[in-house]
Amino acid sequence: MAIRNLRYEDDEILRKRSREIEVIDDRIKELAKDMLETMHKWDGLGLAGPQVGVLKRIIVIDLYEDGMQFVLINPVIVKEKGTQEVEEGCLSFPNKFGKVERPKEVVVEALDIDGRKVKLKAKDLLAQAVCHEIDHLNGILFTDKIKPGTLEIVNPSDKK
Ligand code: NI
Repeated sequence: MAIRNLRYEDDEILRKRSREIEVIDDRIKELAKDMLETMHKWDGLGLAGPQVGVLKRIIVIDLYEDGMQFVLINPVIVKEKGTQEVEEGCLSFPNKFGKVERPKEVVVEALDIDGRKVKLKAKDLLAQAVCHEIDHLNGILFTDKIKPGTLEIVNPSDKK
């Protein structure tokens, strides 16, 4: 396993659309482990392929509760319901935070790391995280969605 370098801010790879994963081979499994490790190193709740420079449709999520760690391959939102206004950040924008609107509940279909079809019913924070990460696979960033007047820029020296 290895920590991968994160892509930040105006790195143009963050604006590209990721490709479907056709075969879950050892390289993809290694990528998934590396993404989890990289996300954990920076205390993130989620990470998407483009954020480590890989334009493939893979996301990882960890809400740091039992059973709340996921690797989702080729995830697709098949249903969404309601809305929530939430505070959000992103490992690619370590100093920016803001309020965005997300669905309150989503149903996501994907493959797990063993290639099994999974259907994930997510709400609240999990729905937010899944939507944020799937946006990354389409080149969409949370900064595109920040409600006017809610952008906060944190001085790096204020952080640990
Ligand atoms: Ni992000």
